[in-house]
Amino acid sequence: MSEQAETTRAATMDKIVALSKRRGFVYPGSDIYGGLANTWDFGPLGVELRNNIKQLWWRNFVQKRRDMVGLDAGILMHPRVWEASGHVVNFNDPLVDCKTCKARFRADHLLEDKLGIENAEAMSPDEMSAIIREKNLACPNCGNRTLTDARQFNMMFSTTIGPVSESANKVYLRPETAQGIFVQYKNLINTQRVKLPFGVGQIGKAFRNEITPGNFIFRVLEFEQMEIEYFVKPDEAPEKFDEWVQAMQQWIDLIGLKPEHVRVREHAKEELSHYSARTIDYEYLFPGSMGWKELYGLANRTDFDLRQHQEHSGEDLRFFDQAANERYLPYVIEPTFGVDRTFLTVMVDAYDEEETVDVNGKADKRTVLRLAPRLAPYKAAILPLAKKPELTKVAWELFETIQDETGALVDYDETANIGKRYRRQDEIGTPFCVTVDFDTLEDGAVTIRDRDTMDQQRVPMSEVSAMLAERIR
Ligand code: GAP
Repeated sequence: MSEQAETTRAATMDKIVALSKRRGFVYPGSDIYGGLANTWDFGPLGVELRNNIKQLWWRNFVQKRRDMVGLDAGILMHPRVWEASGHVVNFNDPLVDCKTCKARFRADHLLEDKLGIENAEAMSPDEMSAIIREKNLACPNCGNRTLTDARQFNMMFSTTIGPVSESANKVYLRPETAQGIFVQYKNLINTQRVKLPFGVGQIGKAFRNEITPGNFIFRVLEFEQMEIEYFVKPDEAPEKFDEWVQAMQQWIDLIGLKPEHVRVREHAKEELSHYSARTIDYEYLFPGSMGWKELYGLANRTDFDLRQHQEHSGEDLRFFDQAANERYLPYVIEPTFGVDRTFLTVMVDAYDEEETVDVNGKADKRTVLRLAPRLAPYKAAILPLAKKPELTKVAWELFETIQDETGALVDYDETANIGKRYRRQDEIGTPFCVTVDFDTLEDGAVTIRDRDTMDQQRVPMSEVSAMLAERIR
C-alpha cells in the first residue's frame, strides 16, 4: 500500500476558509442569520487547535521559566485605566468616509493598497488627507471621487455598567490584555517572590472596533492575545529586548512555520506607538495579495505604563531593588502574540496539495495539513481496515488504551474505505493513522502511516503509545 507525492505551496485564503468550514475548524459567526461581518466561531477542530496553541505557549513561556508568573485579569476595568494608558486619547485609526456610498476605510490602508505607499501608518491624518486630495483618490467601493479627509477614530468598544442609564458608568472592553498586568503589578510584587527581571504572562480576549477588518480571522473585532510584560532594570532593557527577539524566534520554530515565510521588521521612529522606545514586528508572508503582514510584536514600553498608572492612581509602583538599595520604576519589554493570527498562520503554512497515487496505485490528489504534531487537533486516528466486529473490537480497545496512556486526543473512524479515511485525516492534519487489519489478529501488530511521507510501518500494539508519545511532543 505505498503512496508517493510531489509538493508545492498551494494555500490561498479561499481554500483555507473553505477547508476551515468543511472540516469544522472555523464557522462564520451567526451563520443561520446570514452572518455578522468579521465574526467567526471556532468549531470542534478549531477549539482543539486553539487550545493546543495556547497550552504550548503557556507551557513554554510561563510554566517552564523560573522568571515568569501567570495572570488572568478581567476584560472590564476601571475606565481611568484607559485614560492613564493613553488609549482614550491615542488609540485611534485614521478613518476616511465616502460621501456617496457611506463606506468607511482606514486611510493608511487605502494609501498602501491603492498607491503602493509603504508604512503609511507612520503619517499624520493631515499628511494622508493631502495625498488623498492630490491624487483625487476614488472610493474602492463605489468608484466616486468623494472621499472625506482622514480623521481619528477611537477603536475601543464601550458599554455601560449599572441598571439606570443616567447614572450608569461607561466602561470599555479592553483593547489589549497588557493593562490588566500593569494594574495588578503592585499585588504581584507584594504577593509573589519576584525579583527583576521577571515577567507576567496572560492569555485573554481583546476587542477592537477595527475600521477595515477582514482577511478571514486576520483582523477581527474580538480576538485573543497571549502577552508578556517583562519587567527589567532600565539600563538592561536593550539587552533583554534582544533576548526576547531570540525567544520569539524559538517559538516560531516550535510551531513549525517555514523560515522563508517569516521576517523581522523594525518600526521607524514616526511609526512607534505612544508608549514605545523600540518596536519590531515579526511578519508572515501570506499568500496572494495579502503579502507580508504583522504576526507578532515586540516593544520596549519603557516605564511609560507604570509611570502613568502611578500618577493616575496615586499608588507608589516603584520596585525596591534590595541589592542596590534603591526604588525605581522598571522598564517593560513586551512580546505580544495573537492567538487568531497564530491559528491562521499555522493553517496557511501547513496547507499543501499533492499529486499522489491511492492505495490501489491509481493517480490521486490529496490535501494535507502539515501541522506540527504538537499542534494538530488529533494526534492519531485509529482505523479498523473493515467494519467487522473482530477488527472494530480490537481497534476500539487500542483507541481507549492510547488515549489513556498518552493523554492525547485520538480519533476513531470506521466509516468509508481506508483511502477516504486517510484523506480525511490528512485534511485535518492528523500526523499518524493506525490501521488494525486481519494480520493484527494473528501477530498483534498494527500499521502506522505517517501523514507527511505516507510511509507505513508495522508496530506491535504494545509499543504504539510510547512511539506516538515520542513523536507528538
Ligand atoms: N499590547 C500591545 C498590543 O496590543 P498590537 O500590535 O496592537 O499590540 C498585538 O497587538 C497582537 O495582537 C498583534 O501582533 C496581533 O497578533 C494581534 N492582533 C491585534 N489586533 C488584532 C485584530 N484586530 N484581530 C486579530 N488579531 C489582532
